[in-house]
Formats: sequence, C-alpha cells, structure tokens
Amino acid sequence: MLDQFARGAPMPRMRSAVRTLPSYHPPLGGRTGLRLDFNENVVGCSPKVLERLRKIGVEELARYPEREPVELIAASHLGVKPGELLLTNGVDEAIHLVCQTYLDADDEVLIVVPTFAMYEIFASTTGARIAKVPAGAHFSFPTNTVLRHITGKTRLIAIANPNNPTGMAVPLDDLRLIAQSAPEAAILVDEAYYEFHGQSLLRQWTEFPNIFVARTFSKAYGLAGLRAGLLMGSGDAMDQVRKVASPYSVNAVALACLPDALEDVAYVNAYVRDVCAGRERLEEELKSLGIPFWPSRANFVLMRIGEQSSAFVRGMRERGILVRDRSSDPGCEGCVRITLGSMKQTDQLLSALRETLQELGLARQEVRP
Ligand SMILES: Cc1ncc(COP(=O)(O)O)c(C=O)c1O
Repeated sequence: MLDQFARGAPMPRMRSAVRTLPSYHPPLGGRTGLRLDFNENVVGCSPKVLERLRKIGVEELARYPEREPVELIAASHLGVKPGELLLTNGVDEAIHLVCQTYLDADDEVLIVVPTFAMYEIFASTTGARIAKVPAGAHFSFPTNTVLRHITGKTRLIAIANPNNPTGMAVPLDDLRLIAQSAPEAAILVDEAYYEFHGQSLLRQWTEFPNIFVARTFSKAYGLAGLRAGLLMGSGDAMDQVRKVASPYSVNAVALACLPDALEDVAYVNAYVRDVCAGRERLEEELKSLGIPFWPSRANFVLMRIGEQSSAFVRGMRERGILVRDRSSDPGCEGCVRITLGSMKQTDQLLSALRETLQELGLARQEVRP
C-alpha cells in the first residue's frame, strides 16, 4: 500500500538551482593501494592524536560537542582573536557557510578554473550566477581578468591558494588588490595547502574586512576522516557567518583530538618537510623524463601525460599506486595529479612512474620529436 502510494505520488518540487546541478561523485570506491590520488596525508596523524582517540570515553560521546574551548586553543595557536575564528566540518563546510551568508539568487560569484569543485557546487545551490574565469598561461592566476570581471553584483570571489589541481600560488599582493577592488564581495582565500606553501593572508581582515581565510586538518595534519577545518575573518563578519552555522557540526571526536593535533608542531613540520622534498624529487624526475608539469606549492604535482593518461593511471594502479586523472577539468586534458607522501613512498612512486612511462613509451628517450 505504502509502496503503491510512493510510486504514484508526485515528487516534492525541488529548487531549480538544485535540479540543474550535476551530481558530484569523487571516485572514492576501491581505493586499495598507496593513495596518492586525493591529496590526503598518506602517513597518518600525530601519534599524540591517536593516544587521545584511544582515551575517548562514553561520557564524551554521549554529550553534545562543545566547540568554544577548542576554538580558544586554535585562536591562540594561530594568533587571531577568538571571535575571528570558527571551527567547521572541514573547509567544505566553511565554503558552504560563506555562500549561505553572502549569496542571494542572482548575485555573482567569481572563480578561476580549473579549481576545487565545491566552490561552484555550494555557490550555485543559492541560485547565484557563477562567472568562471579561465586561468592564464601555464595556469597562472589571471589577476587582471578577475579584476575586469568584478561587477556591482559580485558577492563572492573564491580562490584556492595554492590552487587544486594545479598547485599554483597567487601572489598575496594580487589577493589584496582583488579584496580592495571588490569591497562588497566576500573574498574567500582557501588555504587548505598552506603548510606546504608557507604564505598566508591570515589577519589581513583588519585592513580588508572582506577577506576570509580557510584552513583544514585534512591535509598536513592527516585528519581528513575527522572532518575539521577553520574559517577565519573579521569579528563582525564572523558574527554573521556564525548565525548560519550549526552549533554541532564539528563532532566530539574531532574536538577531542584537535588540541593535540595543533600542539604537535614537530609532527606536522616533519611531514611537510618530507612532502616538500618529495615534491622536488618528483619535479626533477619529470624534468629528466621529459614530462611537462606545473611547479607546485602544494602536496601534489599536476603533469601532462597526454592521450595515454587513462592507461598511465591504470599502469600506476597495477603497481599499487593510485593517482588521479584530471582530464575532465578545464584546460587539463591528459593531465594527472599525484600526491606526495613520505620519502619511502616517494621512492615507491618514482620507481612505478619510471616503469609505467617506459611501458607506455612516454619516457624521454622514447618520445619522438
Ligand atoms: C582547495 C581545497 N579546499 C578544500 C578541500 C577540502 O578540505 P576539507 O577536507 O577540509 O573539507 C580540498 C580537498 O581536496 C581542496 O583541495
């Protein structure tokens, strides 16, 4: 009876912005092997975090999570005022909250493509119009084109710095110029890969109150599964953002672990050192093999394999290494993105890379002029 009713019943009418939105399914299934495909930390989090996890008790799990004490610790760690920071369920939630706070239907959002998919997804569900500016030559940030696209309706400019999937960074002066040129727009600077780059717009909101900075625990800290991030901005702006945030979006397990994650600076520094050294080794190897790539400021490198990119991804998988084909991103035809991990993992990566490229006849000695 219920089934019959369900089959014949009209569907509730969804918003048109949602109806026209394509589904986004990152290829998360069947990921056995060395996971160099999602820019995660592939070594693991600080042992201090694991120790804390093992001590979580029933009482902590039974209670609703209390975010503020951990926000105080994070604010002091980052040198911002407590009112300037909000813990979020990953940067993903931070993006969602900024969209919910600033976007009305028919407002305009500026993004530079290729970039992280969630800006477009969260922004377009508000009914806002997305203006996509293509990256400049060699995926450089097209500052002048962005400036030209700012209109009286621009309410959000979302920029990943460094960018995913290209690894390219934006000069901080250019970001300040954009913030100054669009005072009625929120400028969301997504610093998910900050630790591998070292440059930040943190605290710039005292001069540019429209700047927001987002950080994550998913990359350098090795806690992508816990879902924790930070959104920071001027106290006044964050008061507004806080209104649309659920008080419980960051769970108790994440909250229990974050103080230890922040405290173990030595762990993060050692991991970042390994990744940056691996990045240099991979880039050197690509140079000597004659594979074009874009010098990266993040924990991954994007390279152009060409028409055989799918065969390359398969060949790497056969050797136990998962890498990500980015061919469907704008301007990325034939491109593959590879994440870096520990030194040992980089050794494994480089030997699989050489073998696969040779097998496909793509290593320099076999490339025809
Ligand atoms: C630029 C950028 N921002 C945000 C994220 C997601 O961060 P989180 O795991 O904190 O939601 C990613 C993940 O790949 C990313 O590349």
